[in-house]
Amino acid sequence: VSTVVEPVALRAALGHFATGVTVVTARDGAGAAFGTTANALTSVSLDPPLLLVCLRDASETLTALRASGRFAVNVLGAGQHELAGRFARRAAAGTWAGVAVRRAERDSTGGRCDGTDTAEPPLLEGALATLQCALHDVADGGDHRIVVGRVLAVEHPAEHREPLLFYRGSFAGLRPPEPRSRA
Ligand SMILES: Cc1cc2nc3c(=O)[nH]c(=O)nc-3n(C[C@H](O)[C@H](O)[C@H](O)COP(=O)(O)O)c2cc1C
Repeated sequence: VSTVVEPVALRAALGHFATGVTVVTARDGAGAAFGTTANALTSVSLDPPLLLVCLRDASETLTALRASGRFAVNVLGAGQHELAGRFARRAAAGTWAGVAVRRAERDSTGGRCDGTDTAEPPLLEGALATLQCALHDVADGGDHRIVVGRVLAVEHPAEHREPLLFYRGSFAGLRPPEPRSRA
């Protein structure tokens, strides 16, 4: 057992913990859109409804969501790895080119969104689920910030769709476990 854990070893060990894949989106104070692929997502509390996502200190999406106080978590489905790869690169002029986005159907009060709110984060068309959040807290997380969001509204399809997974450094898919043999 090593007492000095190298980043590469930590990443390799944690890579055995399979996760879903999300794109966290936000607008900055001027309304420009940002997005980052993130798998460090955890549900925190049901009442009040809270989740957390860990974003590295230098994240441009983090800067944007701190400015607007809003962000959205877009859970990616199977086949959306192109989006995951795109938002894992530093923001560039073409980052959002060809990405289908939409506005929220409902705001936190259940009313229809009128599209006049420039802080409203873009939602990715075709995402498995979306969770719109207000920034609740930002806590120290070493070289990352622990971003706690209060969930304002959720959208997800009624029918089952396969998720995109991340496992040991690669995108993966769901495969149901083998039926267990009876003892
Ligand atoms: C599958 C996957 C998961 C990732 N998860 C995170 C994460 O949870 N937090 C993070 O800060 N970066 C994560 N990254 C890296 C960011 O997506 C990448 O650094 C991105 O360019 C940052 O953009 P930003 O500056 O807008 O945050 C992940 C990348 C991949 C491919």
